[in-house]
Amino acid sequence: MTTSADAKSMPPPSRGLGPASRVPRRPADVPFMGTLPPDDAPRVLEVANVTKKFGDKLVLDDVTFHVPVGEFLCLCGPNGAGKSTLLKAILGLVTPDKGSVRIAGLSAREGRSKIGYVPQRKAFDRDFPASPLEVIVANLRGRWPLRITNAERELAMAMLEKTGATSLANAQMRDLSGGETQRVFLARALATKPELLILDEPTAGVDVGGRAAIVDLMAEISGSASIAAILVTHNLQAVARCAERVVYLERTVRAWGLWSELSADQDLSAIQIASGDHHALAMDGD
Ligand SMILES: Nc1ncnc2c1ncn2[C@@H]1O[C@H](COP(=O)(O)OP(=O)(O)OP(=O)(O)O)[C@@H](O)[C@H]1O
Ligand SMILES: [Mg+2]
Repeated sequence: MTTSADAKSMPPPSRGLGPASRVPRRPADVPFMGTLPPDDAPRVLEVANVTKKFGDKLVLDDVTFHVPVGEFLCLCGPNGAGKSTLLKAILGLVTPDKGSVRIAGLSAREGRSKIGYVPQRKAFDRDFPASPLEVIVANLRGRWPLRITNAERELAMAMLEKTGATSLANAQMRDLSGGETQRVFLARALATKPELLILDEPTAGVDVGGRAAIVDLMAEISGSASIAAILVTHNLQAVARCAERVVYLERTVRAWGLWSELSADQDLSAIQIASGDHHALAMDGD
């Protein structure tokens, strides 16, 4: 029989891992800090106290987190939360008003070459006449290819093979489906041998079959110890197999921890419903 003295000496249940009913309520302005990466792990990305205003509007407020070498991190949050602005700050396209971004110990500008970026599909001009092979080589060179060398062709083909897109090498970009386009962009990013991959909603606008193939690919990348990734998505459930950790951003870091901790936390579900992002923990919909 358990006496009340026994009950007092029992350790409290760990936050977020037990049944939701045992998780104590937390005030909305207190961030959830779950299991964070070990302090001594080398970091490929360090975002420290990043603050950004557009006019009077505070879009990023004292954002701090880091990504250790080889970790796959999911960045989620409701529309307008500042996710794209944060990615732009990491890519050196937006200068923070305060705080800093370090990539493998370098400034955002110096570290840019260590990042492979897969933009949102809508960012690409679909009518531009180019083949996947040309798109990959142009990105490696920083200018449009006149003649592709054998070495460039070999590298590009190896990357297309990795993403299951070999047969598309000489197709026209404008003829590709959403899923095929994303596979080409993933190959294009991988060809630069990045230390950090940045994927902005890679399954948005992709049908269910193509989505599963992309998630499989991301899971494979996430298993590689040498490459870290930040994946922006509204669909936490879909990336369960890839993402070790999640940062939940809403102008500031509202939660940071293991995928399992965030998806089990009752307060976080409440935050997401309150902020109108009904898809954040749902089964479908980017
Ligand atoms: N260049 C800019 N000038 C003024 N306001 C901007 C600019 N860029 C973004 N914003 C504003 O900053 C806020 C955050 O935008 P951001 O695109 O970073 O959000 P997001 O989390 O990526 O949203 P979504 O999920 O819709 O893509 C929005 O209110 C947006 O209107
Ligand atoms: Mg965005």
